[in-house]
Amino acid sequence: MSKFFDFFENYYGSRWKNLFTALKEEDQKVLREVFPSDHTWDNLTPFKLLSGCYLPNEDLDYTKEVDADNLRHFYYMDPGSIIAARSLEVQEGETVLDMCSAPGGKGLILTEALMGNGHIDLNEPSRNRRERLKKVVRDHVPDELRNVVSVKGQDGLNFGLKFKDTYDKILVDAPCSGERHLIHRPSELSKWTPKRSKRLASRQYGLLCSALLSVKPRGTIIYSTCSISPLENDGVLEKLKLKKSDSFEVVELEGEMIDKADKTKFGRLFLPDTSGYGPLYIAKIRKV
Ligand SMILES: C[S@@+](CC[C@H](N)C(=O)[O-])C[C@H]1O[C@@H](n2cnc3c(N)ncnc32)[C@H](O)[C@@H]1O
Repeated sequence: MSKFFDFFENYYGSRWKNLFTALKEEDQKVLREVFPSDHTWDNLTPFKLLSGCYLPNEDLDYTKEVDADNLRHFYYMDPGSIIAARSLEVQEGETVLDMCSAPGGKGLILTEALMGNGHIDLNEPSRNRRERLKKVVRDHVPDELRNVVSVKGQDGLNFGLKFKDTYDKILVDAPCSGERHLIHRPSELSKWTPKRSKRLASRQYGLLCSALLSVKPRGTIIYSTCSISPLENDGVLEKLKLKKSDSFEVVELEGEMIDKADKTKFGRLFLPDTSGYGPLYIAKIRKV
């Protein structure tokens, strides 16, 4: 615990104690309406900061809110995650890759944006998690729009070599330290050293390089994590800048709620002590 605490106190300084307390509290998720319809949800209060979202209501079991075809109306997720996916700004007709897709909350947002026109690969190498992802697609995406979706099981590192210059847009929502969950597991926390975060940062860098090869010239990538570690967030972009500065440019993030996130050197970071949401780091780059 103390190595963990010292590492982050050293980085976040006087802010760390409040941040640590906020991380221990329950995260503030919202109900996002999937494939929004004209239906008005009289029993739900809109979440004013983010379009198409509602505050959870304990009288409503969102998993049971289904339409005539048994499709679920809502997906329960962190506002930071919604913003990460929306920041890719997927348009109808595009070819999209969600490189690390399960369980699929962000992939659903990207799929919706295609409106049945274009193609999206939802990729997840873990078999169990891929089954969960397929269920999320079945439970939320109407039959007639599902033909634009393929579920793949590749190691994300393969895309750069196997599918060069292929996608208009790529989301790399990378596997990360997930400190919010970690702090509830004392046995793992006691074993934590910065090496753990360094190892993940190196894997994330590999995935981002693969995405950079696999996206078309002028195509864009969102790199996101739910980590608070500087090594896994700006650190990964810093390394990319050092090694491949002439292959990409950083794109400024804009849009709903983005001003609630801290500005970092390359992107934005939603932290629960100030924004109430996250942690969620988001950076956007364009291949040049
Ligand atoms: C942060 S989670 C993704 C969450 C997901 N994007 C969502 O919004 O529901 C990261 C995922 O990356 C997957 N993953 C791990 N190693 C990977 C790799 N080498 N290539 C692609 N995905 C990987 C993990 O199994 C995990 O499901």
